[in-house]
Amino acid sequence: MIETMQKNDSKQFNFKGKNFLQLSDFTTDEILYLLDVAVELKAMQKQGKPHPYLSGQVLGMIFDKSSTRTRVSFEVGMMQLGGQAIFLSSKDSQLGRGESISDTAKVLSRYVDALMIRTFTHESIEEFAHHAEIPVINGLTDLQHPTQVMADLLTILEHKGKLAGLKMCYIGDGYNNMAHSLLEGALKVGIDISIASPEGYMPNQTIVENAKQIAKETGAQITITHNPVEAIQNADVVVTDVWTSMGQEAETEKRLKAFEGFQVNGDLCKHAKSDFIFLHCLPAHRGEEVTADLIDGPHSVVFDEAENRLHAQKAILKEFLQK
Ligand code: CP
Ligand code: NVA
Repeated sequence: MIETMQKNDSKQFNFKGKNFLQLSDFTTDEILYLLDVAVELKAMQKQGKPHPYLSGQVLGMIFDKSSTRTRVSFEVGMMQLGGQAIFLSSKDSQLGRGESISDTAKVLSRYVDALMIRTFTHESIEEFAHHAEIPVINGLTDLQHPTQVMADLLTILEHKGKLAGLKMCYIGDGYNNMAHSLLEGALKVGIDISIASPEGYMPNQTIVENAKQIAKETGAQITITHNPVEAIQNADVVVTDVWTSMGQEAETEKRLKAFEGFQVNGDLCKHAKSDFIFLHCLPAHRGEEVTADLIDGPHSVVFDEAENRLHAQKAILKEFLQK
């Protein structure tokens, strides 16, 4: 028998049929509710309790970029929820031969119950969502990685026992999907966030303006600086990401120079709180954005974070797909 989520029964949130494209589309309460559902589903899975909320449903997954965690966690998540997932790489489908996004979205809407898409421009996923008659979930674009940040928030909650009132810092490439989704996600749940990035790699200005608005609503603080030592002062949560994201490989050498001084290492982390936790969405480049001793050391929770992709996404799938 499927257990009801009595803890949340009093709250009425209706995600059915909606898209999951960026965290700024959701209220603080909606994000906290999805995290609650993730906690419940994780407990059920750990206790071996079946939870086939999506029996008979199928998730289509389109990948224009590589993936280990996103692909496997969505696929396993659908299986654990009683459904199935289909993997489509753009190079093996007609999308790679130029079939339009609108025709693809309309056709796939006739077969599957939802689409998860990992692609390059954020506009492409918005176009998919516009033409699809089923929910579209963002599995990463150049601009946003919201399912990763849901897993990050779940990991912080597990390790710190709370979200609001904590301080997070993100050191590295500010104009990247992780920085943007962390800005929105952290501020929505009341976590102060400081981002330190070199000149030329600061966060997207539109996202920053929107983030300032979110900060006003939740009372959380936002700081954007070029100074990693300033950003990491008293941080509870230290985050970084690769300096060269997928699709930017031609800029690798230039970026290695630009990000000198922005490595997360033991010296820098002396300025964080003594019990800070370290997050990285992975894959990581040890010796570049983070030292091996840090990511493989006692402050690192990167494998809990990777596991939580599964649980956080199952909550999204359950809430957005359940009939
Ligand atoms: N963190 C993350 O999205 O990993 P993958 O690229 O392996 O999916
Ligand atoms: N910023 C990285 C995240 C990988 C999960 C990228 O886009 O490649």
